[in-house]
Amino acid sequence: MKPLPDCFCPVDGTRVPSDSLAGWCPACRGPLDLDFAPTPAPLKSLAGRVNSLWRYAECLPLPAPTVSLGEGRTPLVELADGVSAKLDFLTPTLSFKDRGAVMLAELALRLRPRQVIADSSGNAGTAVAAYCARAALPCTVYVPSGTSPKKLEQIAAHGARPHVVDGDREAAARAAREAAVAEGVFYASHVHNPYFLHGTKTYVHELWEDLGGRLPDILVLPVGNGTLLLGAALAVAELHTAGLIDRRPALYAVQAAPVAPLAHAWAEGADDLPGAAPPATAPTLAEGIAIPRPPRARQILRAVRESGGTFLTVTDDRIRHAQRDLASRGLYVETTGAVAWAAVREETLGQRTAVVPLCGAGMKTGMADGCL
Ligand SMILES: Cc1ncc(COP(=O)(O)O)c(C=O)c1O
Ligand SMILES: [Zn+2]
Repeated sequence: MKPLPDCFCPVDGTRVPSDSLAGWCPACRGPLDLDFAPTPAPLKSLAGRVNSLWRYAECLPLPAPTVSLGEGRTPLVELADGVSAKLDFLTPTLSFKDRGAVMLAELALRLRPRQVIADSSGNAGTAVAAYCARAALPCTVYVPSGTSPKKLEQIAAHGARPHVVDGDREAAARAAREAAVAEGVFYASHVHNPYFLHGTKTYVHELWEDLGGRLPDILVLPVGNGTLLLGAALAVAELHTAGLIDRRPALYAVQAAPVAPLAHAWAEGADDLPGAAPPATAPTLAEGIAIPRPPRARQILRAVRESGGTFLTVTDDRIRHAQRDLASRGLYVETTGAVAWAAVREETLGQRTAVVPLCGAGMKTGMADGCL
């Protein structure tokens, strides 16, 4: 088997072989990056390839998949003048997380762990559970209390064990990390393991292909732990370095106003979260992005800055209206899936084009304002 690219710590440079079960940097316990700078294939050579994200084979860190469920290649539809939506809820487990989860499952298959552990606000756990089922690997998913019952049901349906932690998303992550140090456990962390980002980046490779070798002026992206945003930044860099785009899109990062640590740091001109007192948080409808201390904060802030983008926040009221508005146009998305549209539907973009992801299906949470 071809050797896989190694991981390394972006903070202290510690190298971690990809065939190690270590779920984070052994020196600082932070997230890892991948030593992998691929060159995308030219547009013309993509025709006739497999109709899933595996068509971007040159850019993927893992060769031919064994556990694919046909993930990727989601439709792009117009929402308003200059604004299109990429329907990333049309994936095997109904959220964009499948793009990254398939990478973690492929990796896990090679490592042959006794147990796979993940932590999640719901959707990443659902996706890891499905791909572990496909790979016949036992899986436990740590989720915070308050996770939508439908997501718990989805995790359990795939034969994984949902472990509900009494506390917020950070408490669930802590519990998972404690369990992940046991012998033979693979920590399938969508936050710490960089293979996940090399899956989510295919969101942008698809856009580039569907727009005929171009990208929109603005990519609007919901941000909790930033896995879609950081994946997008990776793909933009790959396409730009290869000379396949001449301009890089601005990344507009969207957070929910009640839990917006990155937007606060951005407003203060900071390049990281404050070391001590984190900004206060409150409950939000956007459960998928309610992350009080994202471990990749520094990387997210830098990616937005380098793209010439910005941060936007949305109130629960705007999320509710955006979800209702999308449903009235035939698009049934979960509450977190509506935040990108909530952020730009009333913005003046002028002549600029933008793409928003609708990245979680309505069945997962139902309508915030009810409808019957
Ligand atoms: C529907 C949906 N959108 C957006 C996100 C945000 O992803 P991230 O936390 O990686 O920024 C999530 C995460 O769970 C999600 O479930
Ligand atoms: Zn480190």
